[in-house]
Amino acid sequence: MNTNSTHAPFPGHPGAARRVSDRLPVFPWDKLEPYKATALAHPGGLCDFSVGTPVDPVPEVIQKALAAHTDTPGYPTVWGPLELREAIAGWLDRRCGARIGPSAVLPTVGSKELVASLPTQLGLGPGDQVAYPRLAYPTYEVGARLCGAEPVEYDSVDELDGSRVRLLWVNSPSNPTGRVLGAAELRRAVEWAREHRALLVSDECYFELGWEAEPVSVLHPDVCGGDHEGLLAVHSLSKRSNLAGYRASFVAGDPVVVKELLGLRKHGGMIVPAPVQAATVAALADDAHVAEQRERYAARRSALRAALEAYGLRVEHSEASLYLWATQDRPCWETVAELAALGILVAPGDFYGPAGGSFVRVAFTATDERVAAAVERLTAAR
Ligand SMILES: Cc1ncc(COP(=O)(O)O)c(C=O)c1O
Repeated sequence: MNTNSTHAPFPGHPGAARRVSDRLPVFPWDKLEPYKATALAHPGGLCDFSVGTPVDPVPEVIQKALAAHTDTPGYPTVWGPLELREAIAGWLDRRCGARIGPSAVLPTVGSKELVASLPTQLGLGPGDQVAYPRLAYPTYEVGARLCGAEPVEYDSVDELDGSRVRLLWVNSPSNPTGRVLGAAELRRAVEWAREHRALLVSDECYFELGWEAEPVSVLHPDVCGGDHEGLLAVHSLSKRSNLAGYRASFVAGDPVVVKELLGLRKHGGMIVPAPVQAATVAALADDAHVAEQRERYAARRSALRAALEAYGLRVEHSEASLYLWATQDRPCWETVAELAALGILVAPGDFYGPAGGSFVRVAFTATDERVAAAVERLTAAR
């Protein structure tokens, strides 16, 4: 009998050695639950702008492609069929101006999965740094912590330690601020990363959601000079095509890194289901549904923005993405509480880093009806 086994915790139980969740921050959304309960109790119901999750139907052209591929008994491949890789490369060329071959792209099971696992899959660990913008999507930090690397926030790449940063995240359009980085800013990040031999990974999952600015891809020749060495771009169909439920996304860029990830992901079985691969081909070939969805969001965005500003919030950045980044120059949780009393739920800015402590993030991903209800309440409460 193993005498240690009587009292030692099982792996994965609290107190177990090297339990991975002990390295991670508290899942932030749990902190919002009491405010959600308040907002839910509003007689007119909850207007939920706290999460950037699509609410409109999956476009028919995509549903049909998925439905036509339900009889797929065999294992799909991690790389997917050539048709899928060509559809991805074609979209990158058409929409991002990136000249790239189908061998330098790789489907992923939603981009969150890639963001969280990339540092591990690159073999990073203790002693390495993973850098990301000071206000950022929390999964960049999670990815660093999962592999034991040190997470580092930056305002400017020039303040980073080039001898330690191995992975440099940029995110344009940004979650949470909606800020767009111009070609010159991206070029500076590319220069820095190349000088220090850090892999630059550009999260471009809001690429087709520019309102007052035109996003630029890191793979565009104006940014990278047409050379993708040391660069990756991460894209998602969740937002552009209402496909968050399908988990459809991809990464593209440096062919050597793509090949490395492909090999690892084959071992790990990180495979996009075959019907979703087929749906992705259909989604990337069709720009009409993107234009239609953009119109819905544009209308919701301007209605909410006007109502929030009239109520007394100031909106900063927000020139792209699905968010309004707004402040009353007061601690964010006060604004969260105040709006929750009106039945309106927003995300506190400190979910995205302490620098967001006086902002809230308002996602305009609710239905027209819910947006109109919120506008009415904000107007009546002025
Ligand atoms: C900046 C950013 N990257 C990645 C993702 C993940 O998107 P998905 O996993 O749906 O592709 C999100 C989702 O909100 C995001 O805001």
